[in-house]
This record gives sequence, structure tokens and C-alpha cells, in this order.
Amino acid sequence: MQDIRVGMGVVGYGYWGPNLVRNFVSNPSARLVAIADLDPGKLAASTRLYPGVATTDRYEDLLKDPSIDAIAIATPVRTHYELALAALKAGKHVLVEKPLAPSADLVRRLIDEADRRKLTLMVDHTFLYTPAVQKIRELVLKEELGEIYYYDSTRSSLGLFQSDVNVIWDLAVHDVSIIQYILNEDPVAVSATGSCHVAGTPENMAHITLFFDSKCVAHVSVNWLSPIKVRQTFVGGSKKMIVYDDLEPTEKIKVYDKGITLDEPSEDAHQFRIGYRAGDMWAPHISAKEALQTEVEHFIDCVRTGSPPISGGMSGLRVIEILEAASRSIADQGRPVLLPGRRTSVTPVRATA
Ligand SMILES: NC(=O)c1ccc[n+]([C@@H]2O[C@H](COP(=O)([O-])OP(=O)(O)OC[C@H]3O[C@@H](n4cnc5c(N)ncnc54)[C@H](O)[C@@H]3O)[C@@H](O)[C@H]2O)c1
Repeated sequence: MQDIRVGMGVVGYGYWGPNLVRNFVSNPSARLVAIADLDPGKLAASTRLYPGVATTDRYEDLLKDPSIDAIAIATPVRTHYELALAALKAGKHVLVEKPLAPSADLVRRLIDEADRRKLTLMVDHTFLYTPAVQKIRELVLKEELGEIYYYDSTRSSLGLFQSDVNVIWDLAVHDVSIIQYILNEDPVAVSATGSCHVAGTPENMAHITLFFDSKCVAHVSVNWLSPIKVRQTFVGGSKKMIVYDDLEPTEKIKVYDKGITLDEPSEDAHQFRIGYRAGDMWAPHISAKEALQTEVEHFIDCVRTGSPPISGGMSGLRVIEILEAASRSIADQGRPVLLPGRRTSVTPVRATA
């Protein structure tokens, strides 16, 4: 009988690859055919866990295998473009780790190739598939928070220092993808500063500000040199505010019915009087389902039906455009950089120290 499961190959079995492998193995609509890695020790480790899955140190073996329909790429960022392009040219659908490619130009080429061949191109923006971020998006779309004033996030820990990308491309990529997913508007400009404390390595600490045409402003602080791990985001709206702590085991999201009220100035006063509203706090139920499980299900579904992924090529491109602009801004001491194709009435002000 013909096997109708999607045949999968995974390239890269380092730190993150095993998470993808585990989820493809447990997905009933997928069949993990082979794992490729240049390191024989990594391949031996995969065989100990999955003796029935073939291993190879030659990526070409995945490309040539007709039983492989799709390839997941979990190798360092500098290799994403070449490996993804080769997979698409071999007629395979691809799921590429974040960030999709090292430049917007290269992402555009991948999108063209995938479109021409009618293949799925998806990027692993894992956080979009977390129940917590999906709940925040739902609350924002239902206008529970009112007008969004700010997104303010800190993502820091001690390590893991990367050699081929700076902390923006490694960590802020998560926030940029979340911002793009939960807010109803695209940023128009970005300003960023970054610091490197280890000679010969990329920036290990950065602060990014995203400007929008509306009142909204987003600020993201990322750091590989922090004494404690922090994954905390505040989303402030005119009606309610959210505190999202990804390290909380259960109550990851807390919604505060707090805010300010502006009273009309009386005749003898010239300024608005600001009142403070302190209502209830509630923690909505958040499912414990692993994000990668949802994401792998979504990828398999997109491959089978041809429907566009939530984190498809275009969403990956918008994220890379912001990361590129942030890198340009860092190189120019925080000068605000207008994002491509965005017209704005906002005149971004220079960030002050
Ligand atoms: N989605 C997430 O939350 C998340 C988390 C961590 C890492 N990542 C991403 O996963 C990717 C890999 O990161 P990592 O931390 O696992 O790196 P890693 O260095 O631990 O692992 C990469 C593996 O790829 C192998 N490799 C490199 N080039 C290869 C090639 N041409 N052919 C076959 N194998 C090759 C290496 O031998 C290594 O085992 C990066 O893009 C990173 O941004 C995503």
C-alpha cells in the first residue's frame, strides 16, 4: 500500500535539530526518512534514539532520495540559503530555521524559487506557534487591550554566544516575528544600538526600537551576557495591559485591567488630570502543547494542501528586512533607518542615551 505520509529529511542535528526530529517522528502524518549532519558524533547520537532512521554526512543524499518530500534545515544561519535553495531545486518543500537567510535579497530569491515550483517555504518562527503568543494575538485582535501603545520585551541569558550572527539575529528575531504577528500594523522605521564585549565576536547585547505610524512603539532588549535568564514582555494598551513571562510554568500571561484616564481640564486648570485605574488581573488558561508540535502539524498540512504557512517566505522576509535595518542602524550609532517600501508620516527621533 502506498505510504501517504510526508517523507521528511532533517539536516543539522546539533542543539535545535533534535527538537525538530522528535516532533517529526511523533507526527502521524510524517515519516522521518533520514538525518544529515557533517559531524559523525551527532549522527551516532541520532541513531541511538532513532535506529530506524537513515543517517548521512552528505546532504546530497537527502536531495536525491525520492521518498523525501520535504527537508527541515537546522544548520547555522550562514548555510540556510544554499541548503534551502538546493532543496527547492530538487523539488522538496522546506522548513528553515530562523532567521530564514542572512539577507533580504537571498530571502527574495528563495521565495521566487518556491513560488515558481509551487513548493512550501516556511521559516521556524517558533514563538508564533506558542499557545501564549496565540492568546495575546487573539486578545489584541478582539481589541480587549484597546489601542496598542507599546510592546516592551527583554530576552536575556548567559549565552549561547553565536559566531556567525549577532544577538539581534539570534534572539531579537523572535520578538520581531511576534510583533509582526500580533500587531495589526508594520513598523516603519527602526533604531538600534549594540555592544560587543568579546573581541572578534558579533554584538552580544542590543537595544532595538521599532517606530509605527500609530502611537505604538516597540522596544526589544536582547543580551547574551546577563546573570539571569529573562523572557519577559509587556504589551500595553489603552484599556488593558499584558505581562507575558515565558519562563512561568503555568500562568505565562497575566492581563491587567489597569490604565490611566484623562479628565477634561477644569476652567481654571490648563492641563488634563491623569487618573489611575486599577482593576482586576486574570491569567487566561494557556494550553501546555509544545509549539514545535503545532508548528510541525501546520507545516505538514501546508505541504499537503498547498495552503500558505503562517510563517511563510513573506513573513520571513519582513522579519529579515527589520533585522537588516537594525544592523545598519547599529553600524551608524543608532540612527533610525526607514524600512523598505514603508512610507511614513513619522519622523523618527534620534534615540538618546
Ligand atoms: N527556533 C528556535 O527557537 C531556535 C533555537 C535555537 C537555534 N535555532 C536555529 O537553529 C539553527 C541551528 O542552531 P543550533 O544552535 O542547533 O546550531 P548547532 O551548531 O548546535 O548545530 C548545527 C548542526 O548543523 C551541522 N551542520 C552544519 N553545516 C552542515 C551542512 N552543510 N550539512 C550538514 N550538517 C551541517 C553541524 O555539524 C551541527 O551539528 C540556527 O539557524 C539557529 O538560529 C532555532
